[in-house]
Amino acid sequence: MQIQDSDYRYLCNLIQTRTGLVLDEKRRDDVARALNIILPAFNLKTPHDATLALARQSTDSAMWRHLIDAVAIGETYFFRNLDQFNALQQHVLPDLIAKRRAANWKSIRIWSAGCATGEEPYSLAIVLRELLPDIESWNLFILATDLNENSLEYARRGIYKSRSFRQETPASVRQRWFTARDESYELEASVRRMVKFAPMNLMADEYPIPDGDTANLDLIICRNVTIYFSAEATQQVITRFYQALNPGGWLVVGHAESTASSNHDFIPRNFPNTVLYQKPSAATTRRAAEQRNTPASALPQLVDRELLAEAQAAADRQDWAEASALLELAERDRGTRMQPEVHYLRGLVLLNTGDSEGSLRAFRRALYCDSGFVLAHYTLGEVYEQHGRPKDARRHWRRAQGIVSKLDPQQPLPLTEELTAGMLNELLTYRLKALQTDKGNS
Ligand SMILES: C[S@@+](CC[C@H](N)C(=O)[O-])C[C@H]1O[C@@H](n2cnc3c(N)ncnc32)[C@H](O)[C@@H]1O
Repeated sequence: MQIQDSDYRYLCNLIQTRTGLVLDEKRRDDVARALNIILPAFNLKTPHDATLALARQSTDSAMWRHLIDAVAIGETYFFRNLDQFNALQQHVLPDLIAKRRAANWKSIRIWSAGCATGEEPYSLAIVLRELLPDIESWNLFILATDLNENSLEYARRGIYKSRSFRQETPASVRQRWFTARDESYELEASVRRMVKFAPMNLMADEYPIPDGDTANLDLIICRNVTIYFSAEATQQVITRFYQALNPGGWLVVGHAESTASSNHDFIPRNFPNTVLYQKPSAATTRRAAEQRNTPASALPQLVDRELLAEAQAAADRQDWAEASALLELAERDRGTRMQPEVHYLRGLVLLNTGDSEGSLRAFRRALYCDSGFVLAHYTLGEVYEQHGRPKDARRHWRRAQGIVSKLDPQQPLPLTEELTAGMLNELLTYRLKALQTDKGNS
């Protein structure tokens, strides 16, 4: 099919504005292939007619679906760029999991943006299954989006050909998680169920939506997507990813895409043969602000805070003996009468060392000192739930939700490295709903 130069240029501009994809002369055949389908399907006569029709149609229309399928490059495979998966599997995710366990906050939120036929988000789901022996007790969310709805349809089926497994893909992955059928490999249902696929145009759709799927994320992986975008479009996307991540959250981009991320406030973190980008944690941002604003007279208070911060860091590392020793120092220093945070951390230490009755008392003391201490309400609710006391759990979770829903969702909560009001609100909604659906619990 012959496309006139003016139509081809117009179409290229249109595609770039709508999707961010920049096409050069070499892609003429791909566009022609799409028009070959579009003309008969929509009763159009010439490429010029199709060009005008595409300009009038929305990007999520059936006509655009053909065009996108022809021009979007969907090359992908399981565990592509193994160094990045190793960094996630051996460092980033174990660290996040340990922190969440210590805080009794078993939730992880991931977004694979530009997921193509799903190999990337499914690889992450496999990593999580391998890292979490108690996976059923976690609230895991993996969102996978793409512009190309045909790719998403393929992904949802979870049936792959051998081209989705390359030399880089560990052999154990196919053996362990797939069943061979004819010429295909069917992914285990438990992994398929972990991923939510949804169409999304990174250039046009709104994100992050507060408290929606694209907010409060711990990890965004967007690789080999913005390489086809202009530098300006890439910057816009990275800025929105930054907003979508929790403090301390991670961005994983393809090797060719790293410059855009390093121009940002992300902190580059080196791992063997790869660099991942981390949004500064709430504590880092707070410390930087404190260093700028602290008058010398505030120093004694800070020493106390420092002790508390060290105890908290020890708790984050699950070093309960160290956390306990530091709390004793804090208690001796000031007495714990009006120190809700000390009681709260003491409660965490007791909970994680098997004294859950003691932890109940400590959390209640924290709330006695400060009845608006959301994290204490939340954790006390957790302990009550574990003790089979859903009414008490509900009362504290509702109280916590009443408080966090009035806060700015981006506001970090005290005593956590990375938990924001929005994240806790979302978790509370989930927990309360689960309480309601559990019949034995009313
Ligand atoms: C080369 S694949 C990358 C797949 C996977 N991330 C990987 O690295 O293996 C690029 C994907 O980005 C998608 N894409 C391109 N432009 C997009 C946009 N504006 N919004 C969402 N996805 C887009 C394409 O449809 C394609 O599936």
